[in-house]
Amino acid sequence: MTGTPELSFIHRYDPATEPGRPPLLLLHGTGGDEEDLIPLGHAVSPGSARLSPRGKVLEQGMPRFFRRLREGVFDEEDVRRRAHELADFVAEARQAHGLAAPVAVGFSNGANIAAAVLQLRPEALAGAVLLRAMVPLRNPPPADLGGKPVLILSGSADPIVPADNAKRLASLLETAGAAVEHRVLPVGHGLSQADLTLAKGWLDRL
Ligand code: MLT
Repeated sequence: MTGTPELSFIHRYDPATEPGRPPLLLLHGTGGDEEDLIPLGHAVSPGSARLSPRGKVLEQGMPRFFRRLREGVFDEEDVRRRAHELADFVAEARQAHGLAAPVAVGFSNGANIAAAVLQLRPEALAGAVLLRAMVPLRNPPPADLGGKPVLILSGSADPIVPADNAKRLASLLETAGAAVEHRVLPVGHGLSQADLTLAKGWLDRL
């Protein structure tokens, strides 16, 4: 099913087929779109409602969720603006579709904007699965994450996300009160079967 045109992001929305499963906010990586993470969402939480927006920023034609100056160096003013824009979209979509606060499942650039939303607009999300995430804001405002569950899955051979950066993100979110589980897998930036298995197990326990 495609999204309702009056909402502020191009998106895909699939209603839940199993009551009680948490709605998912699926956030693609650079160059992806609203279709990209649908199979992943289905694999990690079958039966959940899926809300999947397309990033509005174009980098040489590739959709992203915020501007970067170069790989790993972010335009933090844009990160802030876009995180608020995405949180506003989530609020609109929740109202339009009668949804509970979703759990974000983000990959790469999508994981980074999800981390920024947690830091700037924690009420927008019930929790997050951050796949290959890095620190989106060097000086985030103090946030109260009030025990929100966050799973961070990093790759020990990731050429884009330095190991200490992912660790710093985990500790920033933990300090802000999130219940963080951080696992480092023996993989690179791409997703592996282990990511799916761990994310599914974690979501099943929510
Ligand atoms: C980002 O720009 O968010 C990160 O470098 C990940 C990526 O999209 O390549």
